[in-house]
Amino acid sequence: MQQIILTIAENERIAKNTFRMRLSGEELAEQRPGQFINLRLTGLYLRRPLSVHDCEPGSVTVIYKTVGRGTEQLSTLGKGERLDALTGLGNGYNPEKAGKRPLLIGGGVGVPPLYLLARRLTEQGREVSAVLGFNSAEEVFGEGAFRALGCRVTVTTADGSVGKKGFVTDALPADYSYFYTCGPEPMLKAVYRATKTSGQFSFEERMGCGFGACMGCSCKTVTGIKRICREGPVLEKEEILWKA
Ligand SMILES: Cc1cc2nc3c(=O)[nH]c(=O)nc-3n(C[C@H](O)[C@H](O)[C@H](O)COP(=O)(O)OP(=O)(O)OC[C@H]3O[C@@H](n4cnc5c(N)ncnc54)[C@H](O)[C@@H]3O)c2cc1C
Ligand code: FES
Repeated sequence: MQQIILTIAENERIAKNTFRMRLSGEELAEQRPGQFINLRLTGLYLRRPLSVHDCEPGSVTVIYKTVGRGTEQLSTLGKGERLDALTGLGNGYNPEKAGKRPLLIGGGVGVPPLYLLARRLTEQGREVSAVLGFNSAEEVFGEGAFRALGCRVTVTTADGSVGKKGFVTDALPADYSYFYTCGPEPMLKAVYRATKTSGQFSFEERMGCGFGACMGCSCKTVTGIKRICREGPVLEKEEILWKA
């Protein structure tokens, strides 16, 4: 974990209620796919966690949806403003398990962390497919970026306004070697049931401290109690125990 002051280099709206923010800091260490950063915001006691979408030397990019006070405040900030961040948090995806033809399955703001993973997997020469699910056309983002990496991309929308009508589980390819997923919990449960191989799930649990101290994000797994912020947010399919 690294505590660092980052400067906003870009904060732009990319879809309905959805913003991409690039933050720069010379001392910033490299972030791994599936890790997250935790931002301090004015007047809010708890930091707000956001997945690493992309990372270059000296910069990290996040994509966030405005859902409440913290993310609304973030959306009002401009270039040059500074944020106190905890970075390099969590245990991210393990790209080594991907096999030749990995599948990425993202829903809404679960799509952002899959992009850095897609970059790493395509750099390793793997044939990556991505199924990206949204509610409607105005919420869609990221399709072009995944395609630019050489991924085979399918977009689904619940209302059918663009791409294939339905949920991500209606568009899973028949053949893939392993999968990685992130999205709202109902989607993760459906992916758990619909997938035929092993895979890794990233959970966006509500958090307290975000670095393993408060136990507020603890959950039961097959291999014992795990803190989503520390041992997660990524869990292997075989260790997940769903809450009733
Ligand atoms: C590891 C991790 C990675 C995340 N990555 C992203 C990301 O890349 N992009 C993104 O947009 N969001 C992400 N989130 C969710 C994000 O942290 C919350 O949306 C944010 O903290 C909400 O803060 P707020 O003050 O705007 O809303 P609040 O006022 O705190 O809450 C507003 C509403 O959103 C709900 N909510 C808040 N947090 C969550 C959550 N974690 N899961 C489900 N519902 C929630 C609340 O129940 C409430 O209804 C991530 C969360 C975690 C734990
Ligand atoms: S949020 Fe405090 S231990 Fe995970």
